[in-house]
Amino acid sequence: MTNKLKYFIGNWKMFGDPSSLKIINQIHSFCGRFKSRGKKNKIILCVPNTLIYFFTTKIKSKFVSIGAQNCHHQKNYGSFTGSVNAMMLKKTGARYIILGHSENRSEGDTNQIIKKKIESALKQKLNIIFCIGETFKEKKVGKTLSVIRRQMRSSIDKKYNLNKIIIAYEPIWSIGSGKIPKIQELKKIFIFIKNEFKKNFKTKVSPAVLYGGSVNDNNIKKFSSISEIDGFLIGGASQSSKKFIDIIKNYYK
Ligand code: PGA
Repeated sequence: MTNKLKYFIGNWKMFGDPSSLKIINQIHSFCGRFKSRGKKNKIILCVPNTLIYFFTTKIKSKFVSIGAQNCHHQKNYGSFTGSVNAMMLKKTGARYIILGHSENRSEGDTNQIIKKKIESALKQKLNIIFCIGETFKEKKVGKTLSVIRRQMRSSIDKKYNLNKIIIAYEPIWSIGSGKIPKIQELKKIFIFIKNEFKKNFKTKVSPAVLYGGSVNDNNIKKFSSISEIDGFLIGGASQSSKKFIDIIKNYYK
């Protein structure tokens, strides 16, 4: 197995309260012990907005970074009841932000809205975890590659600071369903995403590309044969420190 940097990113979704600080503390302690094994990992937990300030001020972890899960596209303050923008998240302590998640796409986020969100988050120098992925219907009719190509092309611009973007490939049919893609198919998709990115945005290197969708401590090992996978975006299983830690441990077993 390579010694390349791997991301393990938790997407807590609508989970957690101040007592969840203990989860971060446990992951932090584990990372301290695990560090000695010489693997390069980046651990990020994307938590609800209500917890970002609390976590970032309570725990100054050099191992665990804190991120947000979405924002309003408007750059400045405004009359948007219930919304939070990238500037507010940055000031609250977030360093990363998930954008384009399918659960937000299904609530109305179009490729164009996601583009505006990416722009406003980049203005705040947040690191973007940009989610792409096809529905089951699109997969069945052979549209996976064209869908993810369109998602990338219409939400990313060549003039962006592309070093701040991480891509998370999350087939929608896999999120929360317990189903994962066939490993050979997944490898082809990862190669496609990386080549397409380099070709379209004229970069020498591709950004990190992560896999997300029903990743857990039992199936994680299956992904380790795909060297093109730079890490994982983990939903349900990241809400338990034990499961999250076991995912990291089992990946390297
Ligand atoms: P899951 O979610 O791991 O629970 O499938 C992944 C995600 O939504 O990012």
